[in-house]
Amino acid sequence: MGYTEFCGKKVASIGVGTWNMGGRDSPDLRNDARDISVLQLALAAKVNVIDTAEMYGAGHAEELVREAVRGVPRDSLVIISKVLPSHLSEHLLRKSLDRTLQRLGTDFLDLYLIHWPPADLQLVKEGLATMEKLVQEGKIRHLGVSNFDVEEMRFAQESLRKEELHANQIEYSLMERSPEQEVIPFCEKEGIGVIAYTPLADGKVAKLPAVQKVAARTGHTPIQVALSYLTAHSIPIPKASQKAHMMEILGTLGWELSAREQTSL
Ligand SMILES: NC(=O)c1ccc[n+]([C@@H]2O[C@H](COP(=O)([O-])OP(=O)(O)OC[C@H]3O[C@@H](n4cnc5c(N)ncnc54)[C@H](OP(=O)(O)O)[C@@H]3O)[C@@H](O)[C@H]2O)c1
Repeated sequence: MGYTEFCGKKVASIGVGTWNMGGRDSPDLRNDARDISVLQLALAAKVNVIDTAEMYGAGHAEELVREAVRGVPRDSLVIISKVLPSHLSEHLLRKSLDRTLQRLGTDFLDLYLIHWPPADLQLVKEGLATMEKLVQEGKIRHLGVSNFDVEEMRFAQESLRKEELHANQIEYSLMERSPEQEVIPFCEKEGIGVIAYTPLADGKVAKLPAVQKVAARTGHTPIQVALSYLTAHSIPIPKASQKAHMMEILGTLGWELSAREQTSL
């Protein structure tokens, strides 16, 4: 099993996402039982990073996470949620976080992210200043951003007084490798964790010929090869609602691509 350190905890080399669970822009309860049981499959396999957001299913995805983690020791989990860029004033951010914590059934988040940069970057300053207070108050352990480029990350870093920018959650997959140019090298230099979203490009990575070649050579599936590739520079957070999909994802744990295979991709 591949482990890494994140948010001060030992975590599995892949996490799980929850976009499209519990609805999209509004709550949809029809697949709750299925989604909870698939998340529990991941937890049983010792996957302990779970990504969600106030936006997902207008909060219902967070409620599904609460149900999935029931009975799992809180300190073994890294729970990530995100605040909308329209909620970065102190008043709105505090309200968003309180609601997120309530839906998740927890009294703290391991990591709270600004979901994407607001048009007015000054709001990032206000949001991060509030997040720094929330760290002091014990409501969040770490703070970070999502979808920020290098310039935006620098702005965020310069806005912080006490805390470090802990992570940037970005789209990163074998179909979307542009972060390898600037964003990932910057994060690595600055000690900012990289969380890779849409790591499967909705399953399309499995069709890449180079991935299929490595899969044939290693006896792993293309999906597993594509996820394993990402673990060298990030924590990928694939999402699956189908049990067979999650089982395939979990087959990524416990092995690594050789350096030769890694560079062939
Ligand atoms: N910060 C941001 O702005 C942002 C943006 C997008 C996503 N995210 C986060 O990142 C997570 C992952 O990204 P994503 O959901 O966009 O994309 P993804 O994980 O790349 O792809 C999810 C899709 O791939 C399918 N899939 C899963 N396992 C598969 C397998 N073994 N074989 C074939 N298909 C498979 C899933 O199908 P089934 O569901 O039918 O099993 C689902 O349709 C999200 O859930 C969310 O938490 C963050």
